[in-house]
Amino acid sequence: MNKFTLPRQTAGRTVDEITGSRRLRRMRKADWSRRLVQENRLTVDDLIWPIFVIDGDNRREEIAAMPGVYRMTIDLAVREAERAARLGIPAIATFPNVDLALRDQTGSHILDADNVINRATRAIKAAVPEIGIITDAALDPFTDHGHDGILRDGVIVNDETVAQVTVAAVLQAASGADIIAPSDMMDGRIGAIRDGLDAAGFQDVAIMSYATKFASAFYGPYREAVGTAGLLKGDKKTYYIDHANSDEAVREAEQDIAEGADMIMVKPGMPYLDIIRRLKDEFQMPTFAYQVSGEYAMIMAAAENGWIDGDKAMLESLLAFKRAGCDGILTYFAPKVAEMLRD
Ligand code: PBG
Repeated sequence: MNKFTLPRQTAGRTVDEITGSRRLRRMRKADWSRRLVQENRLTVDDLIWPIFVIDGDNRREEIAAMPGVYRMTIDLAVREAERAARLGIPAIATFPNVDLALRDQTGSHILDADNVINRATRAIKAAVPEIGIITDAALDPFTDHGHDGILRDGVIVNDETVAQVTVAAVLQAASGADIIAPSDMMDGRIGAIRDGLDAAGFQDVAIMSYATKFASAFYGPYREAVGTAGLLKGDKKTYYIDHANSDEAVREAEQDIAEGADMIMVKPGMPYLDIIRRLKDEFQMPTFAYQVSGEYAMIMAAAENGWIDGDKAMLESLLAFKRAGCDGILTYFAPKVAEMLRD
């Protein structure tokens, strides 16, 4: 018996009898064949980079729970936007950490055309017109209680919040924002913002809806970054989706699409891949995931402890979003990934 006819016998049947001669490992045997059959790819075109901006000059502050991520003054944010554009990152998303003295019960400072977000947008647009700018029309960095809505007698009031967020969105568009991404989950905000933008002549400004934003523990480091961690009392369960629910997420997305959302987002990301897949299958909309601060922090912390290979875990997590059906990902890893993909 020569080596080519060795019996591949198991206890009962041969492996070929078991598999019907189908062997899925055949195409995994070499790097070239794995590349040939790879179904999903991550490219720089998939990346949106969230950044944190503050007032001042030439200053950046560390965020303890987000190693490698900084709050930056506008001048530095402009330089980072230039770097992002050079790397080919299509868009950035800005979030402010506002002086505590400027925060109040209604988040009124969001209506200041010269607040740090609107000034950052103007500065970035002037210096780097080729990069997309996404702004969040949510009140939480502007309220003294850290909620995304106006708080009256312990209740987040929906319609008043929507009215204010709509004006804020128009101001952001007037400052040069290309996409308004309201993250507050108030009912009716997408339709109201669409009307507001259109009435002000901003038909070309798009809306990326945080269509399915879940009440989640994974936002912790972001709240440190924007300075709401110490302010927030209670939780956001009266406006974010219960993370036990999936049908409700579909209804939320359906509603936002009906009201005029151009793109939808799922947030957080990795624990919600099932939601991404459901929404993509159901609506075929441009669909995005926000790999949130807590997801970033977990990968970084494990990597810094030497418990996982951070770069590999980062790339695997991002490719998982593509496999789940995402067109792109908001991720704090964006510049790092873009550099790795380039090299
Ligand atoms: C609130 C908002 C949150 C994030 C961005 N905008 C969540 C929150 O504070 O409840 C989270 C982003 C992240 O965790 O990276 N409108």
